[in-house]
Amino acid sequence: MNREQAHEILMKYMEGENYITHSYAVEAIMRGLAKRLAPDDVEYWGIVGLLHDLDEEQCDWQHDMSVHGPTSAEILRKEGIEDKVLFDAICAHNPKSGVKAKTTLQYAILAADPMSGFVKAVAQIYPDKKIASVKHKSVMKRFNELRFAKGANRDYMEAIEFTGLSLDDLIDVALEEMGFIADKLGL
Ligand SMILES: [Fe+2]
Repeated sequence: MNREQAHEILMKYMEGENYITHSYAVEAIMRGLAKRLAPDDVEYWGIVGLLHDLDEEQCDWQHDMSVHGPTSAEILRKEGIEDKVLFDAICAHNPKSGVKAKTTLQYAILAADPMSGFVKAVAQIYPDKKIASVKHKSVMKRFNELRFAKGANRDYMEAIEFTGLSLDDLIDVALEEMGFIADKLGL
């Protein structure tokens, strides 16, 4: 599956504007992480980011978090995709699916997902709400304020360390890569 096919599948199953921009943001961060960790797999890592929440509007995760991830794999299978690495990575972004992160790719998606929302939340406290206004230092400061964007799981973001990168690296990648597509993200 290439990026174009992945995007087509996403558009078929996802309608919410916020979900779609979130998918783009996580794709961007995953591509940035791949540039450092798996330079031959930048597109593939991007696809993992793009599709990680594919089932967001297709399953009742509000009542049972364990279905978030496995349902995306089911949808992809229905679309003719058979890719265990992709399915396991998608499931690993939600440990409640029963798949715990073990590989570099899985830790990357676990950390990239909450970081995308976190950086967005930091941008939104600026008067212009622009990611261009956000400094690395402010992200770190807010990271340590546990009441700020408390839905963004700090442990998952810190799990980036299992890839060999640091939390500082992850913040740099998120600011840079989300910054490149700021218009698309409305930031
Ligand atoms: Fe997500």
